Amino acid sequence: MSATAEGHRKTYVPGMGHDRLLPLYDPLCRLLGMAKVHRPLVDQAGIRPGQRVLEIGCGTGNLALLVKRLHPDAEVVGVEPDPKALARARKKSERRALSIQLDRGFAEQLPYPDGSFDRVLSAFMFHHLRPNEKEATLREVRRVLKPGGSLHLLDFGGAKVSSDGFMARLSHRNKLLRDNFGDRIPTLMREAGLTDPTEVNHRVRRVLGRVTYYRAVVPLAESDSTQPGEGPRKEVRGQTP
Ligand SMILES: C[S@@+](CC[C@H](N)C(=O)[O-])C[C@H]1O[C@@H](n2cnc3c(N)ncnc32)[C@H](O)[C@@H]1O
Repeated sequence: MSATAEGHRKTYVPGMGHDRLLPLYDPLCRLLGMAKVHRPLVDQAGIRPGQRVLEIGCGTGNLALLVKRLHPDAEVVGVEPDPKALARARKKSERRALSIQLDRGFAEQLPYPDGSFDRVLSAFMFHHLRPNEKEATLREVRRVLKPGGSLHLLDFGGAKVSSDGFMARLSHRNKLLRDNFGDRIPTLMREAGLTDPTEVNHRVRRVLGRVTYYRAVVPLAESDSTQPGEGPRKEVRGQTP
């Protein structure tokens, strides 16, 4: 299902695939132990005090709030097209007294200036995008990252292994999800001008199936850039929690 953002003509696929199912999103995340899946992404980002961190597709704010809790001296911003998810994120941030900036917007049209973030995080958002939106999103991530900044992305992706579980098998049948698998994500990262796209790790969860952690960086100087045609580097350490 696609929803249309008010005041925008663009459509997006909401968190649970349908607006009416959004109240189930957080209970489902708790049931699936999503905090344990988010945590390695935050650790991989190596966030330092004073850094500006953006989460694209922040939904109800679970990852952005985790970042703020673990790194209270970082400036945390979440961007999300779904006003209902944003309203839930705002309530949670007030309730937990964790101050984060929450903005309405699309990952493929980020409402921020060039070079304004040290880190960009993305969790389970990429499979909501069509192929052209994925390309545009990664170009936008490249644009808003500072030199030396990095993208840390978590999603269904990587190798297709039928034993990986229910969601993995389902995902191979779904067109948007299927487009995440194989080397697709690192390849798109490289094409968007991000350097050293790496599959950092993956985990196999009983229900979620295979979830993969990726990282890519913006070179400090243009000469550090990956050469065209250079393949993505793979550094895989699988874990079954
Ligand atoms: C499965 S939820 C993940 C939410 C959050 N990142 C988390 O890990 O809990 C995916 C989110 O991506 C958002 N989304 C869909 N299309 C988007 C787009 N074009 N730009 C940014 N976010 C988008 C959805 O509205 C939804 O809130």
